[in-house]
Amino acid sequence: MSIAVRYFSRSGNTRKVAEYIAEAAGVQAISTDSADAALKDKADVLFIGGALYAYGIDENLKKYLDTLSVDKVGKAVVFSTSWLSKHALDLIKKALTDKGIAVENETLYFKSKAVDGCRDEAVRFARKYI
Ligand SMILES: Cc1cc2nc3c(=O)[nH]c(=O)nc-3n(C[C@H](O)[C@H](O)[C@H](O)COP(=O)(O)O)c2cc1C
Repeated sequence: MSIAVRYFSRSGNTRKVAEYIAEAAGVQAISTDSADAALKDKADVLFIGGALYAYGIDENLKKYLDTLSVDKVGKAVVFSTSWLSKHALDLIKKALTDKGIAVENETLYFKSKAVDGCRDEAVRFARKYI
């Protein structure tokens, strides 16, 4: 099964979660603003994450979501961090389902302050889908 992990993170919190997931999956977590971010082959499972900034997700992540298609993603699994709100999960899910991409109902979310202690939970979560 082919697994990919993509994220956008301004200050590192969502990147940490992405790295815990990637470690569990044995792949590299790649930022959506990296030159390597495009999916070369179809990912059976794409873990995709981003944070909430003033009720929205970063433009870079929005643009990346727009590049995805059913040809490239079997199923997306969404994760996020924020101070309090889980709204980024909904925004990311909607961008994907609007494109017809299958999205796992279950999501992974941590408050920013909890990210450092979340490794085990993130790994447990990731293992369900790999
Ligand atoms: C400009 C800005 C706006 C933010 N707006 C919200 C918000 O509306 N609701 C919320 O719960 N967290 C908000 N946050 C907190 C971030 O979502 C949180 O720090 C997150 O973990 C950042 O992820 P990152 O380190 O991956 O960039 C905001 C942070 C910044 C810097």
